[in-house]
Amino acid sequence: MSLSSSSLFSDLDVEVIPDAPLGAMTWYGIGGRADLLVRPRTVVALETLARRCARSGTPLRVLGNGANLLVADEGVDGIVVRLDQPVFREVRYNQTGEIQLMRAMAGADLAKTLMETVRRGMDGLVPLAGIPASIGGAIRMNAGGAYGAIAEAVDSVTCISRNGRRVTYPASELVFDYRSTNIPDPIILAAVFRLVPDDPVRVRARVKEIFEYKKSTQPLADHSAGCAFKNPFDPVQEERRSAGRLIDEAGLKGLRIGGATISRHHANFIVAEPGASASDVEQLLAEVRRRVFERSGLELEEEVVIWRRGDPS
Ligand code: EPU
Repeated sequence: MSLSSSSLFSDLDVEVIPDAPLGAMTWYGIGGRADLLVRPRTVVALETLARRCARSGTPLRVLGNGANLLVADEGVDGIVVRLDQPVFREVRYNQTGEIQLMRAMAGADLAKTLMETVRRGMDGLVPLAGIPASIGGAIRMNAGGAYGAIAEAVDSVTCISRNGRRVTYPASELVFDYRSTNIPDPIILAAVFRLVPDDPVRVRARVKEIFEYKKSTQPLADHSAGCAFKNPFDPVQEERRSAGRLIDEAGLKGLRIGGATISRHHANFIVAEPGASASDVEQLLAEVRRRVFERSGLELEEEVVIWRRGDPS
């Protein structure tokens, strides 16, 4: 750890892990290490760290649940922040008439939070059943699927700006698009959700139905980052096409580079088998893009986020 990087956090309430096994913390379970993994214990420590990183030009990345992330084999520079201390995992409920407002910190686990809302007989997060994510990661990507996206339940989002200031956006000021948002800040701190009371039996049945659909169509037990590509917009058909179906129609199921293969279960899942490297996955992504373009004329864009040393964060 260099003197200059340690001066970014030596006086802050944080735990620092140098040379942390970052790739192993992702759902892929492959890829390199983080020069510095920092676990802040307070919001003030996180704000100060964000400000100092911006001023010193130190890359700062936030690790969520690692479910949609591929870490390159050479690892990442700068600082990787993990919001897994209690203050960043808190979830609070507030009854306002018939609508329940829930404030979840960015490090809270989406699946656990969803199950708690279901236990309380609340709808809102139900379309997100079966999606592994932190609340912050789910907001950043506007996580969702055929049943809906997280945006539909968002009331406001609180972020930490580059200069370390807390800023809250009402949902009306945010643009949530397909698997993206226009949030300009490097750190999502918390979000408030509007939940609607419903029949607990119905809510539970809906969660089960969505989960069963995913289980029967996706290789949930394998090491992957979920869908590798976004569903591309087809200007001729004027709608998004399933990347999985396009890859399947190109005959690519089972294609392998090193230890990375295209799932036979769902073609938009690139699975890492034992011994796979991040480079195997990256090469396979490029090969899929090339072959699908050749066959369909459609450009696939990665949904999986790839962190590489030296990339702007
Ligand atoms: N299909 C194939 N072959 C395949 C995969 C799919 O022919 O290998 C066909 C299916 O039979 C179906 C159609 O393509 O007729 C659509 O497939 P699916 O229902 O699996 O939906 P998708 O568009 O491929 C999207 C999301 C998933 C989400 C599901 C269900 C994207 C990129 N993918 O997949 O999200 O779980 O809907 O809600 O938006 C993710 O984001 O990581 C993810 C997996």
